[in-house]
Formats: sequence, structure tokens, C-alpha cells
Amino acid sequence: MTANANAAPFLRAKDVALSFGGVKAVAGVDLDVAEREIVAIIGPNGAGKTSFFNALSGFFYPDSGTVTLRGQDITRLRNFERIRLGMSRTFQTPSIFAELTVRENIMMGLQAQANVAFSMRGLGARGKELAGRVDELLDFVQLRSMKERQVATLSHGGQRLVEIAMSLSTSPSCVLLDEPTAGLAAADTTRIMEVVRDLHDRLGLTVIFVEHNMRFVSALANSVLCMNRGKVIARGTPAAVLSDAQVREAYLGSEEIVNV
Ligand SMILES: Nc1ncnc2c1ncn2[C@@H]1O[C@H](COP(=O)(O)OP(=O)(O)OP(=O)(O)O)[C@@H](O)[C@H]1O
Ligand SMILES: [Mg+2]
Repeated sequence: MTANANAAPFLRAKDVALSFGGVKAVAGVDLDVAEREIVAIIGPNGAGKTSFFNALSGFFYPDSGTVTLRGQDITRLRNFERIRLGMSRTFQTPSIFAELTVRENIMMGLQAQANVAFSMRGLGARGKELAGRVDELLDFVQLRSMKERQVATLSHGGQRLVEIAMSLSTSPSCVLLDEPTAGLAAADTTRIMEVVRDLHDRLGLTVIFVEHNMRFVSALANSVLCMNRGKVIARGTPAAVLSDAQVREAYLGSEEIVNV
């Protein structure tokens, strides 16, 4: 075996389980993600996708199983400790401050980091660098012209882009996006798709996303994991997983699958 074959994957979940009361939301899930891979997690409503994300990102600790990042056991690391190691996430329901401006939201995301990174510098230099970083992040999602707009006045797609920009404020190497296109119109969905592709192509990030839009999944993912009732029922290329009999059966009668 070569050294390479022995190397730990970038992110590895091993037999991860998480229950709520009697509900086994995640019932022993394995997932290996290579560096710079784009992985989509699909499955019908209630399959356990968000719960699995929560276990990966430290929002909840799993009841059992392990999560490693570059070989380091992060299963019980706090959320902010994972962020320090380069992991970042967005939520299925918007987690931005609608009454604040776009710039203020991004500033808030940058602040925690900045307290550490800029502690050795003067206040003037710090403010200037923060402002520069805000512009850089807004340029990335093409929202710079909206900088002084109140977030509540943006389209849903615009708000999602603010969230993505915020998730980048910690300079992650890996981002987890929970349903980035949920509730968006087709044009906004296409815009988000382009930005997610850029996360990988331009920033070189590893991307893991939960998604019901199969056009998005097919166009972007290198690899797809399908969950149902807390378990993995298929893993492979988008084409293989989306044509899998068990996957189609799991989605049968459900409205949420799009464009299959
Ligand atoms: N915080 C919680 N407390 C109690 N039960 C929960 C909690 N979070 C999830 N569950 C339950 O765990 C199961 C999996 O839910 P989860 O939200 O992970 O599914 P999902 O695949 O993300 O679904 P969706 O596509 O609707 O977002 C469901 O039965 C849900 O009711
Ligand atoms: Mg969910």
C-alpha cells in the first residue's frame, strides 16, 4: 500500500448516530470526503440530512461514531473550534440579521476572527483591513453594490448570498451548505449554483451541500450520498445515485424532488 492510500481522507464520518427521544435521526452514517471534492447529500424530508450536518459541524454531538478532519478527531470539538480548523456552515433557515445592512452582517461574521487576527495592530489599520475584507467577500458573491442595503430588502437569493459570504468570513477550507436553494426562484437558484461552483473552482474549497434540486446536484456534485430514515441508501456519481432504484423508491410520492 502506498503512503497515499494510507492517508486519512480530508473529512471522515464513521458510523455516526444521533437520536432525538425515540427518533433515530441519523442511524450509523459513514462518509469520506476528499479535499476539494463537492459532495451532495440528498434524501426525502426527514431523512436525517440536517441532523447529519449538525453532527459534522458540531452543532449537535453525535451519540456515537466519530468525525475526523485531516485525520484529527473533531467529534467533540465545539463549533468555534471546528471553525478554527477551517470548517464553516450555513443553515437551512436563514440565519442573518434582516434589519441590518449587508455590510453590517458581513462585519459581524468577520468580527470574532478579527479580534484574534488584529489584536496586535492599531484600531485604524484594523478597521481598514476589515472594510477591505468585506468588499472582497461581497465581490465574490457579486453583492458589493448592495452593501448599504438592509438585508430584508434583498431577494431571497440575495439573502442566501449574504449568508454564503458570511460563512466565508472565517476563511474556511470546507463549507457545509444546508439547502442553499430552498424556496428560491429559478434565476436565483442559477446564481447560487454559480457561486457554489466558484467556492470550489476559485477558492479551492471542499463543499458539502444538502439539496433537493437535482439539476443543481447533477451539475455540481462529484459525488452524491442519499439518506433515507437516518441511513445511507446510495453513494456514487450523480448519474448512478439518481437512477438508483432504492433512491427513486424513497422519493416516490414525495413532492420535494426537483428536475429528475
Ligand atoms: N432538534 C430536534 N429535535 C427533535 N427531533 C428532531 C430534531 N431535529 C431533527 N429531528 C427529527 O429527526 C428526523 C430527521 O430530521 P432532519 O431535520 O435531520 O431531516 P432532513 O433530512 O434534514 O429533512 P428536510 O429535507 O425536511 O430538511 C426527523 O424525524 C425530525 O423530526
Ligand atoms: Mg433539513
